This record gives sequence, structure tokens and C-alpha cells, in this order.
Amino acid sequence: MQSRTLGRTGRSVSVVGLGTWQLGGDWGPVSEQDAAAVMDASVESGVTLFDTADVYGDGRSEQLIGAWRRANPDVPLTVTTKMGRRAEQVPSNYVAEHFREWVDRSRRNLGQDTLDLVQLHCPPTPVFEDDAVYDALDALVADGSIAAYGVSVETADQALTAIARPHVASVQVILNAFRLKPLDRVLPAAREAGVGILARVPLASGLLSGGYTADTTFSEGDHRNYNRHGEAFDQGETFSGVDFADGVQAAQAFAAALPEGVSVPQAALAWIVAQDGVTAAIPGARNPEQARSNAGAADLLDGSALDLASLDTTVHELYDRWFRATVHDKW
Ligand SMILES: NC(=O)c1ccc[n+]([C@@H]2O[C@H](COP(=O)([O-])OP(=O)(O)OC[C@H]3O[C@@H](n4cnc5c(N)ncnc54)[C@H](OP(=O)(O)O)[C@@H]3O)[C@@H](O)[C@H]2O)c1
Repeated sequence: MQSRTLGRTGRSVSVVGLGTWQLGGDWGPVSEQDAAAVMDASVESGVTLFDTADVYGDGRSEQLIGAWRRANPDVPLTVTTKMGRRAEQVPSNYVAEHFREWVDRSRRNLGQDTLDLVQLHCPPTPVFEDDAVYDALDALVADGSIAAYGVSVETADQALTAIARPHVASVQVILNAFRLKPLDRVLPAAREAGVGILARVPLASGLLSGGYTADTTFSEGDHRNYNRHGEAFDQGETFSGVDFADGVQAAQAFAAALPEGVSVPQAALAWIVAQDGVTAAIPGARNPEQARSNAGAADLLDGSALDLASLDTTVHELYDRWFRATVHDKW
């Protein structure tokens, strides 16, 4: 597995990481054993980056990662967590006192004195412009509670505001074959500034698994059932904001463009990781097979089984045909 430096953290991380929202149980139940098996499979396949948040399963995802680390103390791993969604998402809640409380809870959950990286979890826009926010985060670095901080954003403008700050180590964005907006300005700016980019929702919440049809249904507690139109949180987090039926058709066209033997999710991940400025893609996995397959996407980067330039042309054609008009200016 190839590694890259995660922006200003200076840490080396695998180009395919593991997203662990699923391990919180928010996408349908995942047992503790299954969660451990997903982490085992990822690490055995070369993954050295887990992304989590204090709200995934209200701390369950962090706790499961903490338990896994205790059981595997010698495995070199970078865990990126997030804070800021345990309280109402209003700017007045993004203050030093709350940061301290949230970071301390994550330190306990993860069993780490110093968190590797904490990201503001898609806060309201004014938070990105507030000097006091960055001062408070700098203070957490100075006292050793966190080694570095970054942000997770909804919009390209939020990303650009954060990238301009001197100590923001990384930015987490939605970037996938159905969400090309970050290619315009965010990736060049991050590259220039030496800020890491974590590409989340890389499979468009599973649309780019290639296995969905117009009739695919999801369980009641799964956001793909209840947040298609942004009913509970930002619409972009579910299927990266594209219409489900359009997404199914575009995924079929994506699949048709691949050489025989190359899987849709692996090609989708390899395409992301091949974008200049991306540090890593962080696909979520619900079982060890998915985790293993996702890690294997890194093998496609050498271009021998998949022509990445030709896939890039296909991705842009599909985006222009199916999504640009409806999603490009939204985020
Ligand atoms: N605001 C934020 O900061 C934020 C928001 C969203 C996500 N994230 C982070 O980004 C990570 C990734 O995003 P995501 O999990 O929302 O979406 P995603 O990675 O685009 O999609 C995950 C889903 O894709 C399917 N899948 C994954 N690997 C597969 C494979 N090899 N073959 C077939 N299907 C596969 C699974 O769907 P099935 O369940 O149908 O099997 C899985 O639940 C999250 O886990 C989280 O760490 C952060």
C-alpha cells in the first residue's frame, strides 16, 4: 500500500484509509466482533489510517477503535477523529471550553493521551472565519491534548477559508466520481499550502459499489433511507447529494467503461487517489470483504490493470451529463 504525508501533520498514512461511521452502528447494526474484523482486515491489507468522529454511535466507533488499539498496540496507525456535533451547531458552541470537553471525551474513548488529529465536524460557516476558534485549537496542540487539527467541510469556500489558516493540517471534503467540485480550487490550494486532503463519501454512500438498482432499499435506521433530501443533516452526506435513480444509472455507465475484472468500487477509489492533491480516500466498510476490497484499490494506481487517464475522461463525461447542473454549485 502506498503512503503519503497527511498535510501539516507530517504523518505518513496509507492512500486508502478506513471510514468508521458504519462501526458506530448508524448504517444498520454492526457487532463488536464484526467491527474488529473490519479493522483487522483493513490493517492486514495495509491500511494505516482510520477516520472516526465523537458522534458515530455517540462514541461507539471511537471506543471500538480504542479497544482495537489496546489489543494491537504495536500497529502503527493514525486515527483522525472529529468534534462539534454533540451540541447544537451554532457558532457560539465552538468555543475553547467545549473543545476541551469534546477532546477529553475522545481521548478517553480512543485511549490516547494525545489525539493524532481532530477535525471540526462540518461546523457552520462563520466558525471557519473566527480567529478565536483557531486560537483555542492551537492551545490544545500546545498542551499536548491533540497533535494536530483539521476541518471537515461541506463547501469548497469553507475549505478555502480553512486552508488559508497557517496551522490547519488537513481538510476533509466530499470528493468522488459524482462530486468533482473540489478539483476546481480546493485541491490546487491545498497542494500549494501543504494541507492534506481526506476524500470522504468516496463511494457516494455505496452508489459507486456498482451493486445498487433503482429498487435497492435500506434499513429504517440508515441515513440512505431517511436523509435523501437532507431531512436530518446536509443532503450532500447521503449519496453525495445526487438523485438516487440518476446515481444508479451513472454508476452503471461507470461500470460499463471499466476493463473486465476491475471492480466498480476499486476503480472509483483509485480514480480519487490519483487526483493530484489528494492524500487519502476513506471509504466506509461494513464487513471485512468490503474493507479488503477497498484497500486493494491502491493496487490499481500503477495503471497496469486500469487506464486511469481514460477513466478520468469517463468520469468527467458522466459528471457533465448527470450531475453538474444539479450539484456543482450547491457545495
Ligand atoms: N461530515 C463528515 O465529516 C463525514 C460525513 C460522512 C462520512 N464521513 C467519513 O467518511 C467515511 C466514508 O464515507 P461514507 O462511509 O459516508 O460513504 P462511502 O464510503 O462512500 O460509502 C460507504 C458504503 O459503501 C458500500 N461499500 C463500501 N465498500 C464497498 C465495497 N468494497 N463493495 C461494495 N460496497 C461497498 C457500503 O454500503 P452498504 O452498507 O450498502 O454495504 C458502505 O456502507 C465515513 O465512514 C466517515 O468516516 C465524514
